[in-house]
Amino acid sequence: MRMVDLINKKKNGEFLSGEEINYIVRGYTEGQIPDYQMSAFLMAVCLKGMNREEISSLTSAFVDSGERVDLSQIEGVKVDKHSSGGVGDKVSIALIPICACIGIPVAKMSGRGLGHTGGTIDKLEAIPGFKTSLSRDEFISNVNRYKMAIVGQSPSLTPADKKIYALRDVTATVDSIPLIASSIMSKKIAAGADAIVLDVKVGSGAFMKSLPHARELASTMVDIGKSLGRKTVAIITDMSQPLGYEVGNANEVREVISLLKGEGAEDLTVTTLTIASYMAVLGGAFTDFDTAYRAAADILKSGRAVDKLKEFVTIQGGRAETIDNPGMLSQAEFHIAIESVRQGYVSSIDAESIGVSSMLLGAGRRSKEDGIDYSAGITMLKKIGDKVDKGERLCILHTNMEDTKQAEEKARNSFCLSSSAPAPIKHIHEVIQ
Ligand code: URA
Repeated sequence: MRMVDLINKKKNGEFLSGEEINYIVRGYTEGQIPDYQMSAFLMAVCLKGMNREEISSLTSAFVDSGERVDLSQIEGVKVDKHSSGGVGDKVSIALIPICACIGIPVAKMSGRGLGHTGGTIDKLEAIPGFKTSLSRDEFISNVNRYKMAIVGQSPSLTPADKKIYALRDVTATVDSIPLIASSIMSKKIAAGADAIVLDVKVGSGAFMKSLPHARELASTMVDIGKSLGRKTVAIITDMSQPLGYEVGNANEVREVISLLKGEGAEDLTVTTLTIASYMAVLGGAFTDFDTAYRAAADILKSGRAVDKLKEFVTIQGGRAETIDNPGMLSQAEFHIAIESVRQGYVSSIDAESIGVSSMLLGAGRRSKEDGIDYSAGITMLKKIGDKVDKGERLCILHTNMEDTKQAEEKARNSFCLSSSAPAPIKHIHEVIQ
C-alpha cells in the first residue's frame, strides 16, 4: 500500500477499506507517514467526505491506537455523556450528583477548556482542594460505593486522535463531520462506556452553527455508536447564547449549586434534566423518558442533588463547605458592567464572542500551555428576548486584569438589539436515537 495512492483515491471521491484506513492511522501515529501526506489526506476527507463504514473504521483505528479503560469492575450500565462544546456549559458537573441520586454509575473522564469553550475539569478545580487525578482503584471504588467519580482525560487514550487533531488545527481541517464524529466517539469508546448520551450543541457558541449541520453530526455519531455496539442517543441542544447566566470557572460552579437547589435558569434546568433523563433510561433506571424526567426534577426540588454534590466534592478531596458557602470560591478584583447604548429587545447574542471575551479576561486558554484564573468570567444579565433600556447593564465582566479593552469590546459587540421581541428559543431542538 502507498499513502499517495490512498490520498488519490479519496481525492477522487472513492471509498477506503477498513484495512486502508488502519494503514493510514497506524502509519501516521508511528511516524512512517509524514505530516504533509496526512494533511493532504485530511483535506481530501474534508472535501469528499466519508461513508458510515469508513467513519466507523476510522473510529476503531483511533480506539485501537491506545489504551482502553476497563470498567468491568463497576456494577451496572456505565453511561457516559459528551458535549460537543459551548459557552457556560456546566451540565456535566450537575449531571454527576443527579445521576448518582438516581442510582446510575457515573465514571467520568473529562477534558480541560481551550479557546472559547470551558472544560469540566477546570471548573471543578475551582473548588478548593478538588482533585481530578485519582488512582485506578480509587476511581473504581468511588464509583461502586458512591456512584460517582471524575478524572482528567488519560494521555494514553486515542493517541492517534490527539496527533491528528493537532494537525487538523493548523491545516483548516477541523470542521469536517466525519473527522469530528470519529474523534469524539473514539474517546468515549476508549473510556469504556456501555452507553453514550451526546449533547450536540447548535448555534453561535457551538461548532455546529446550523441545525442541518448539527443533525448530520448527531446522526453520524449515533450510527458510529450503534455500529460499535453502544446504545447511543444524541440530543441537539441550544447554544445560540451562553447556557444559564454564568460563564467562567468559579462562576459556573456557583450556578451549578443554585441549579442543584432547584433554583437554576430555565434553559440550564431543562437541558440538564433532559440529558439526565436519557442517561437514566439508557442506564436502565427507568423505561421511559417522561418518568425519568419527573424523577430527576424531584431530585432537584428535594435538595438531594445538592447534598450529593457535597458528598462528591468530599470524596474527591475538596472542601464541601464551599457548597454551603459559595462565597468561598475565588472572586475577581474588578467587575466591569457593559451597558446598552440603546433601547430594544435582545434579538441575538454571539455566544462565541462571549466565550472569547471570558478567555481574554483570564477564564480560558488561548493555547494548551496557558494557565487560567478561576475567578474570571462573565455574568449575563440579559438574554435573548429580554427587554433592555438605554444605559441598562447587559452583562458584567469579572477579572483581575487591568487592561480589559478588547474583552469589553467583544462582550459589547456580541449583543444585537431589535425593536420588537424575537421568537422564543427552543432549549432542546431534536433527539436522535
Ligand atoms: N471535539 C473533539 O474531541 N474532536 C473534534 O474533532 C472536535 C471537537
